[in-house]
This record gives sequence, C-alpha cells and structure tokens, in this order.
Amino acid sequence: MVRLEQVHKTYRAGEVDVPVLRGIDLSIETGEHVAIMGRSGSGKSTLMNILGCLDRPTSGRYVLDGHDVGALDDDGISTVRGRTIGFVFQQFHLLPGRTVRGNVELPMEYAGVPPEARRARATALLERVGLGHRLDHRPNQLSGGEKQRVCIARALANRPRLLLADEPTGALDTRATAVILELFAELHRETGVTLVVVTHDVAVGRAAPRLVEVADGKVVG
Ligand SMILES: Nc1ncnc2c1ncn2[C@@H]1O[C@H](COP(=O)(O)OP(=O)(O)OP(=O)(O)O)[C@@H](O)[C@H]1O
Ligand SMILES: [Mg+2]
Repeated sequence: MVRLEQVHKTYRAGEVDVPVLRGIDLSIETGEHVAIMGRSGSGKSTLMNILGCLDRPTSGRYVLDGHDVGALDDDGISTVRGRTIGFVFQQFHLLPGRTVRGNVELPMEYAGVPPEARRARATALLERVGLGHRLDHRPNQLSGGEKQRVCIARALANRPRLLLADEPTGALDTRATAVILELFAELHRETGVTLVVVTHDVAVGRAAPRLVEVADGKVVG
C-alpha cells in the first residue's frame, strides 16, 4: 500500500536548514494496522503529512497504492489523495458552521457524490460510529470523543484504502480513548482499510499488531 525509500525532509527556517526526516525506509502492506511512535519532535507528523500527500519529500521516493507520488503534479496528487486517503487529526478540524452530518458529507461533495447519496451515506456512517442521534447537532455541542467519532465517519466517507490518524486520542480521556480504539479495531476488521496511527499513548500503540518507532528522523524499530 505504501513504500517509502530513503525519504528525506528538510525544512527551511529563515537562514537555516532543519533536517527532520533523514532517510526513512518504510513499507506498509494493504490491510495492515500500524502504530508509529517516537519522541515529540522526532518527525512523526512530518512523516504522516508525506504519507498523506499533504507535503512532498525533499528527496527520496514515495509509492502510494502503485502511484509514484513524486511523478505526479499537484492535481494528480489531489486526485490520488481524495480517492485513496482518509485523515483523522488530534484537533478534529470540524467545520463549526455545519451540522455533524454536513461535516461528514463534505468530502463526498468534493468527490461529486449526488446530494441524496451523500446524505444517506453520511447518515449510515454516523449510525455506525454511534452518533445516529446527533446528526443535526453542531460540532461544539459534542464531547471530544463524539467529535472524534464524527471525524472517523468523515474520514471513511469516500471509502479510503488508507486511513491516517495523527494522535487521534491526544485530546481525549482514557474512557473516550478506549471507545475510539475499539472503533478503529472494528472498522479495520470490517473494511480491511490500511490503518496508520501516530500516538504517544502506549495503550494506543499496543492496540496495533505492528509498531514502527521513529527517532531523529529515522525508523529505528
Ligand atoms: N514547517 C516547518 N518548518 C520548520 N521546522 C518544522 C516545520 N514543521 C516541523 N518542523 C520541525 O520538525 C521537527 C519534527 O516535527 P513533527 O511535527 O514532525 O514532530 P512530531 O514527531 O510529530 O512531534 P509531536 O509528537 O510533538 O507531535 C520539529 O523539530 C519541528 O520543529
Ligand atoms: Mg506530531
């Protein structure tokens, strides 16, 4: 599903180059569930942004679902990203002016799904994550755990093959974290989606059969 070969990422901050990823080699098979762990500042989010095609490597090769991402222009990358990837973030990034269902419909609007079909799918997804009774709420009327369940429904809207979650439980308490972990496990079983989760939380890391450890911009285990 994913293959990174000698991926480097260097940011430019004023006059200095800041090397963040320093030769990442990583392959993830279709259907795997992988946790990525490492100290704050080790480059996990930078790595996730590259995996998610939100950012490009400075050098090295990234093959996503058979596409050599480096060979695509920005439109090509957007297309592959929209068809292939779902994102879940620690800070939710829900639109406050839209209802819960409207938020889940959004990626389907971008993908050109007709209104009735996207409404039906958003409703079904929200029922699946246990929020069928909150369709017309606004995000600020939900708890943190509920918001994250909306984000998971939104991430699944276009049936991604790769689901990327960067600290999905970072803003949640232990109980809400357990609910989210169980939901990820169920969805992984049900859909066969490839699941990559960045976390600080040992419990979240342990829930994944494979752990990838990042230190100083390299995979160390
Ligand atoms: N746009 C940027 N410009 C310059 N430096 C950056 C930029 N983005 C990240 N960095 C630096 O790159 C390093 C890695 O950042 P990154 O966000 O990938 O770490 P992380 O492992 O996700 O950390 P955390 O666990 O705290 O989320 C940090 O030292 C950060 O300061
Ligand atoms: Mg991070």
